[in-house]
Amino acid sequence: MKTPARQKIRVWDLPVRLFHWALVLLMAMLFLSAYAGQMQAHGAIGRVVLVLAVFRLLWGFIGSQTSRFSDFVKGLGGIRAYLANGRLETVGHNPLGALMVVAMLVVVLVQAVSGMFSSDGLGFSGPLARSVSSVTSDLAAGFHVITAYVMAGLIAVHVMAILWHWIRHRENLIVPMFSGKKWVPRNTVQPLFASSALALATVALVAVLVVVI
Ligand code: HEM
Ligand code: HEM
Repeated sequence: MKTPARQKIRVWDLPVRLFHWALVLLMAMLFLSAYAGQMQAHGAIGRVVLVLAVFRLLWGFIGSQTSRFSDFVKGLGGIRAYLANGRLETVGHNPLGALMVVAMLVVVLVQAVSGMFSSDGLGFSGPLARSVSSVTSDLAAGFHVITAYVMAGLIAVHVMAILWHWIRHRENLIVPMFSGKKWVPRNTVQPLFASSALALATVALVAVLVVVI
């Protein structure tokens, strides 16, 4: 009997998958609430996104192998090599996709932090707006509005890149983001996973810090 050339292995841990799909849902709610003028809800959801983004940043250092920045941030040399030969050193994000991942995480963080210092001029303020001058708070609000457009642009490029990858390379990356499992060449080594309990403890710690602010 012929041995199959490919095998299905676990590549994404539960915390990253929950983080991703929660982020998608909450980002949609943030845009909707802001444009509907539901600022109390906007501020509350924005705080949850801040918790998720800080968690993901920390998980990039202490989390499972494919979640770690060291696993997928490979610099210009890594991107060039990937574009030249298409060879991958990881079953996680490819070096080009990693650029997008880092850009999105940075913009989500900047967006959530700037929101904390913003006021809408109509009575709603982020919890830190009163701890800075009104000029700084206005600047933060201006910045918050601009980065919201940058965020929307990045989301559009991100989704198009995933669809393009599907059409061009005939690889559906969306299903693995739900199931955690991917088809990879046989003999690929299973990545290492951190415990979900560690993720839960990290989220709880970050949530306490954000609530205290
Ligand atoms: C608000 C919209 C979205 C945001 C902010 C977002 C953000 C992100 C981030 C930060 C990652 C990296 C995951 C990690 O390592 O933690 C990621 C990966 C991914 N996203 Fe999204 N995403 C969004 C919408 C979507 C949608 C609508 C889809 C499906 C079409 C999608 C499909 C994926 C896939 C498949 C990956 C994994 C890519 C890979 O295999 O390297 N995302 N996204
Ligand atoms: C990643 C998270 C966030 C996203 C994507 C987001 C998105 C948005 C968007 C799209 C707007 C409307 C911009 C416009 O008028 O064109 C807005 C306004 C605003 N947001 Fe957020 N927001 C986030 C987090 C937060 C947080 C955490 C707070 C405060 C707790 C906050 C407070 C505000 C305020 C005060 C405004 C009004 C700004 C103004 O009218 O000048 N946001 N946000």
